[in-house]
Amino acid sequence: MSCNVVVGGFFGDEGKGKIVAYLALKDRPAIVARGGVGPNAGHTVIVDGKKYSLRMIPSGFLNSECRLLIGPGVSVDPDVLVMEIETTGVDSRLGIDPQCPVIEKRHIEQENISEHLKARLGSTGSGSGACVAERALRSVKTAKDIPELAKYLADVPSELNDALDKGMGVLVEGTQGTYLSLYHGTYPYCTSKDVCASAICSDVGLGPTRVSDVTLVLKSFVTRVGEGPLQGQLSRDEVLRRGWMEYGTVTGRERRAAPFDFNLARRAVMLNGATQIALTKIDLISPEASGVRSYEELPVKAKEFVERIEGETMRPVTLIGTGPSTSDIIDRRSREC
Ligand code: GTP
Ligand code: MG
Repeated sequence: MSCNVVVGGFFGDEGKGKIVAYLALKDRPAIVARGGVGPNAGHTVIVDGKKYSLRMIPSGFLNSECRLLIGPGVSVDPDVLVMEIETTGVDSRLGIDPQCPVIEKRHIEQENISEHLKARLGSTGSGSGACVAERALRSVKTAKDIPELAKYLADVPSELNDALDKGMGVLVEGTQGTYLSLYHGTYPYCTSKDVCASAICSDVGLGPTRVSDVTLVLKSFVTRVGEGPLQGQLSRDEVLRRGWMEYGTVTGRERRAAPFDFNLARRAVMLNGATQIALTKIDLISPEASGVRSYEELPVKAKEFVERIEGETMRPVTLIGTGPSTSDIIDRRSREC
């Protein structure tokens, strides 16, 4: 039995999309399931020079043998979903739980006219939060009420637990990051749900005893989109000088940036019960690391950074991203720890 849960350790956009895509191709799990809030998160997957921005479909879709599931915790926007089904061509491999709440136009409008959400908190305005709020009031529509979703309906918790019972591998994909969690993040500058590992498991219907690994994705620097505190924030000029500028997948907004934060990393390991760390974008800290595929070939500065993270968090850094493509990665999982 192997159930690997992949979650973000900072403010989202750590590169979970790329890590999940790599693991789906390498480990060949039977299922990749998406937990998290909804289409307010965007995962970027780049393979053979082609770029996908995924807001609903699990990032493991590149493995054409994987079943792709969206758990009942996740809010579904049928328009975004149908568009992504077309761009990825996944169709019959996709399953959506009948209990997924459905985002309607009015949820999007509600968020976009809200001064509190848009101007003060910097919400993405995707309607996810308004949908979650209506779900709490038990009046939201769910996937089973939408005819165009009928052919995709699937009992996601049963499929996942049955696969594990049969000894198959399962990959669970979280969205956003620890400090955007409604419970553990920088409230009120956060998302509308908890997004730590236990919540992601609950989103897809897996109990805590079923999990074998929690992979915490950390970027080599910290970024944040929207409002809210960011310790050590650099000026825009400095972010550009360092080559750290990023733009939101969903909104296109510039992301703010700060150097790697060991305090946040240690606390994220604790909150998620992380067993290992995937470190992305080491090529932006140490340019000679770009495209490197083995640990030995990394420059000394990059190795020292990895060792410091391992020392401070007491967890092994098992995957290291060395470029934007799914294949730009160092996989150290087989090393003796
Ligand atoms: P959320 O679910 O919204 O939090 O997204 P995410 O964690 O999947 O990250 P997102 O794709 O929004 O942002 C990460 C960005 O970094 C993307 O543009 C990726 O292509 C890029 N990226 C990921 N890993 C690496 C890496 O190791 N090196 C470089 N240069 N780019 C990377
Ligand atoms: Mg993102």
